[in-house]
Formats: sequence, C-alpha cells, structure tokens
Amino acid sequence: MRVLVTAGPTREALDPVRYLTNRSSGKMGYAMADAFARAGHQVLLVSGPTVLVVPEGVDFLPVESAAEMFEAVKRHIGRMDAAVFAAAVADYRPAAVSEQKIKKTGETLTLELVRTPDILGSVRGEFGFTGTLVGFAAETENLLANARIKLERKGCDLVIANDVSKPGIGFDSDRNEVLLVFPEHVEALPEDEKHHLAPHIVREIERLAAERGR
Ligand code: CTP
Ligand code: CA
Repeated sequence: MRVLVTAGPTREALDPVRYLTNRSSGKMGYAMADAFARAGHQVLLVSGPTVLVVPEGVDFLPVESAAEMFEAVKRHIGRMDAAVFAAAVADYRPAAVSEQKIKKTGETLTLELVRTPDILGSVRGEFGFTGTLVGFAAETENLLANARIKLERKGCDLVIANDVSKPGIGFDSDRNEVLLVFPEHVEALPEDEKHHLAPHIVREIERLAAERGR
C-alpha cells in the first residue's frame, strides 16, 4: 500500500521568535511510519517539528504549521491507499503574526486565536479520499464516547483513542495504552511500548484495507 502518516505537533507563529504548540513528541506517528515500512508498504511521513530520526525507507515531508500540513496532505492524499493521522495539530493559531518581536508593555497580554483547518476532517469530503482512513483521538475524559463521535464525524474506518491525562503514557512518552475504535466493535490494547503497539495496529489497518478492496 501507499500510506500517508501525519505526525508530531504543529507550530503556530506569534512573532519571529515565538509560537504556540503542544506536548506531542511525534513518537506514535513515527512508530506507525516505521511499522508500515517494515511491513513492506510505501510511506510518506508528513511531520511537524520533532527531535526524532526519520525511520529507514520512509519518504519525509517536514512542515511547521497546521496550514502547511493541510496543504501537504491535500497535495499527496490522492495517490494514497491508506492514511493515518497521528499528528497533534494545533486547533487554533494566532489571528495575526507580528512582523516584529512583540515587546512586553502592559501587565497582561491577550492573544486572539482563530481556528486552523481540520485536516483529517477534510479528507473524505473536500479531498474526496476513498481509501482506508485512520484517525487518533486524544482525550482527557469520556474516551470511548468522544472517539466514537470523531470516528463518525470524520468518516474514519478506525480511531485510535488514547487518554492523554494518564501519567507515563500518551503525549511525550515511549509508551501508550489505546482503544481501537471501529464502527462495529472496540479492541483495548494493554499498555506497551509504542514500537510494539504500532505493528499490531498496522496489521489491523491492512485487514481494513483488504476489506475495502484496495
Ligand atoms: N486533526 C487534524 N487536523 C486538525 C485537528 C485534528 O487532522 N486541525 C486530526 C488529528 O490528527 C487526529 C484527529 O483529527 O487524528 C483528532 O484530533 P483531536 O485533537 O483528538 O480532535 P479534534 O477533532 O481536534 O477535537 P478536540 O481537540 O476538540 O477534541
Ligand atoms: Ca484537537
């Protein structure tokens, strides 16, 4: 299969020296890209800034902002058989990027933020993607219910849900504990290294793709 994987955080510029971001390390997305490549698939990794080494045999497209990730996915999704959206995309960006470094003046500073495009949410409708589609859901409460809403709303075949409030797993960790949320059933994977979870999830995605007939 040709597989697109998004990974890492995005950076939303505020001024020439500052940005908004989140705690994503990119480890889960890179582990997925690596597991796909090891299973013999052709992988394009679209990644926000991380300190990770690009897995061997994986094509790499680095991006910074949500807008750049959106454009990269839009350009490449058409020729993919499957796509996995592991990136922790910033939901909001500063409404304006200051050309000069913002100086400290008053005692408080209020930022105006505007929504970024929902990349995964654009894949089925706007981009017309008909391949196997996998999203992640990062939640701190109501894990299963929220993941089911994302599965339905974004037209996914699978949502990988993780509770990012649990210490030692999920964001910025080598370990994770996830629920695989399919339209008709749910599979709980016990806590493990991201590098052990990824090949298992890849096999599930291979099965979904085979069912879809591509
Ligand atoms: N996602 C995306 N583009 C965005 C936001 C999210 O592609 N602008 C993708 C993520 O990569 C993930 C899925 O959508 O696969 C769910 O991300 P998440 O942050 O859990 O959900 P949101 O839809 O952003 O909703 P919220 O943060 O309000 O829970
Ligand atoms: Ca979000």
